[in-house]
Amino acid sequence: MTDKKILITGGAGFIGSHVVRLFVNTYPNYQIYNLDALTYAGNLENLTDIENASNYQFLKADITDADAINTLFEEHQFDSVIHLAAESHVDRSIADPLLFIKTNILGTINLLNAAKAIWKDNFEGKLFYHISTDEVYGSLGDTGLFTETTAYDPRSPYSSSKASSDHIVRAYYHTYNLPVVVSNCSNNYGPNQFPEKLLPLAISNIKNNKPIPIYGKGENIRDWLFVLDHARAIDVIYHKGKIGDTYNIGGVNEWTNIDLIHKLCEIMDRKLGRENGESAKLITFVTDRAGHDKRYAIDSSKLMKELDWQPSLQFEEGMEKTVGWYLSNEKWLNNILSGDYEKYYSKQYDNR
Ligand code: NAD
Ligand code: TYD
Repeated sequence: MTDKKILITGGAGFIGSHVVRLFVNTYPNYQIYNLDALTYAGNLENLTDIENASNYQFLKADITDADAINTLFEEHQFDSVIHLAAESHVDRSIADPLLFIKTNILGTINLLNAAKAIWKDNFEGKLFYHISTDEVYGSLGDTGLFTETTAYDPRSPYSSSKASSDHIVRAYYHTYNLPVVVSNCSNNYGPNQFPEKLLPLAISNIKNNKPIPIYGKGENIRDWLFVLDHARAIDVIYHKGKIGDTYNIGGVNEWTNIDLIHKLCEIMDRKLGRENGESAKLITFVTDRAGHDKRYAIDSSKLMKELDWQPSLQFEEGMEKTVGWYLSNEKWLNNILSGDYEKYYSKQYDNR
């Protein structure tokens, strides 16, 4: 018997694919619908291991198309939504802000409206769970952590589009009583991340003996969390989170970009049988990102105390697993590195 019909948006992307897999495998009684437009970042190869599961169905649709979204909600009568679909890369948002406004803001409103329309005022057992980022809080100085009550101060088109969508989700809670929950997570790393983001890009370049582009002096700081720990946090918040609340998710794991890349180079040297220090020679400092946020760091004590979540992996172990995955999934990586990715790469990096 099906207990729940859960719509997961963006399930063909990096984090979404881990969330879909976790839910499909952990909850055979839930029907999981993965809605994804399969943009450059969406890849069904991320889900080949579960694509034939009886509790899984893929729905190709664009969240900016309100009619298509309303039709799917009518047809399948989802009783909860875990919303991850988004344009997610800061550098792309600098090049094309409007796309981020359309997908991240309008797309989210379309989903909220569709849920509100089919749930009417009967919200028993219903949930709209919005997945967001710590980048909405802006940029930290040398000290302090983002908490759930830190004022929003987004600075990139990406983070401001996510901030806007967070506000709208909460507005539907306050205005229409729509049952919502929001979580804001720090930088994720792990298998299946599109190689435009720092770690998979560096892994791929080191493997291919290409320069590793480091923006500015590499002094910016990020708080890294293994993607499966984010997926586990989403599971916990989906089941136990308080309606109307926000939960911060982070790794308690801050690294400057340059230290992180040196750590990665050590692992790559060992795994590729290179002499120690060889990969680090590829580090190349390039023109900084416009408006580059200095530091992100999350206080996840609310999630830890109230919902009993902890990151399960130590960073060293997570990095070993991640590098191992990219090195043993050459086909996955090579499929992405051809075609459009090459065009993106030369536009983004050739003049830096
Ligand atoms: P991703 O870019 O890897 O995946 C995004 C997915 O959304 C892709 O499968 C893409 O095809 C789909 N998508 C994009 N536009 C769509 C549209 N119009 N209609 C339907 N599907 C569409 O992103 P990710 O890194 O997995 O991030 C997922 C979510 O988590 C995002 O909401 C992001 O803001 C948030 N988040 C990401 C991180 C991180 O470190 N990557 C950290 C915190 C929060
Ligand atoms: P990224 O993976 O794009 O995530 P975000 O911008 O969402 O934090 O970047 C992580 C950090 O790495 C960020 O400080 C920017 C920096 N960076 C580089 O130095 N070089 C690169 O080629 C990329 C993509 C990012």
